[in-house]
Amino acid sequence: MDVEAGIQQLKKDLNAVILAHYYQESEIQDVADFVGDSLALAQQAEKTTADVIVFCGVHFMAETAKILNPNKLVLLPDLDAGCSLSDRCPPGPFKAFKDKHPDHFVVTYVNSSAAVKALSDVIVTSSNAVKIVSKIPADRKILFAPDQHLGRYVMKQTGRDMVLWPGACMVHEIFSEKRLVQLKVEHPEADVIAHPECEAPVLAHAHYIGSTKQLLEYTVSSPKQSFIVVTEAGIIHQMQLKSPGKTFIPAPPDNGCACNECPHMRLNTMEKLYRCMRDKTPRLDLHPELRQAAYAPLKRMLEWS
Ligand code: 13P
Ligand code: SF4
Repeated sequence: MDVEAGIQQLKKDLNAVILAHYYQESEIQDVADFVGDSLALAQQAEKTTADVIVFCGVHFMAETAKILNPNKLVLLPDLDAGCSLSDRCPPGPFKAFKDKHPDHFVVTYVNSSAAVKALSDVIVTSSNAVKIVSKIPADRKILFAPDQHLGRYVMKQTGRDMVLWPGACMVHEIFSEKRLVQLKVEHPEADVIAHPECEAPVLAHAHYIGSTKQLLEYTVSSPKQSFIVVTEAGIIHQMQLKSPGKTFIPAPPDNGCACNECPHMRLNTMEKLYRCMRDKTPRLDLHPELRQAAYAPLKRMLEWS
């Protein structure tokens, strides 16, 4: 059967909207109604009039859509699509960490579970973290979780000191600085563009640092013709679509592979997308109390963005 035609039909039958992150495989991006970064996807989820949200991304992203839309059905192709940042910041130890810093304003990256969000004062994404931290009164102490690399980048940009939870993204922390330097020598004409989840020595080579959406926009507006892309390779699909004449070189990880893919994001496939819409499962459910507690800091983020 034609899986894509089946998905299009189900979209009409369910009055569904398909939201996809840039790290999804190309076929999923092409069938989606909206492709974006974490902030844009949350904003899209907040304003959709569809009855059903089908979220092609990882668990915390679908959970965010559900927090914003408690009365809508939120489907996701694979319930096991997690995130190393979220998985390595469980709510129990996070609460203990927070309790050690009782006078701190808690800023939490959206790559976290609803239970951790519920313990936070404001949520940020890589698009708005610098802007939001800059809005916190200068006399407030700040605790930032769970990505220490994004946290350090934000500290550098804002001049604010922050206590950091020691988390990292399993994809962005394995970019090889040595292989990046080799690539720069091979392609001296290329700009290096990197996601702030990368480690500081890798970020030091970047001409531009930003969220996936910001990196994409940079490649469109820049007069440069080639780019070394230091983030998950899925984003290159949109870069090629928007700038067909330009060259995009994926930066390699230190494990011998040519490019870097998120194993969680890549659990989603067209077949699983079709089946989740046909069977209306797996679906994202949240306890109303937890949803309510996680909503307040998320809403604050959307207001401050
Ligand atoms: P963006 O919000 O930049 O798309 O980041 C999401 C993510 O998971 C990066 O690894
Ligand atoms: Fe999480 Fe990293 Fe995958 Fe993004 S790329 S979803 S931060 S593991």
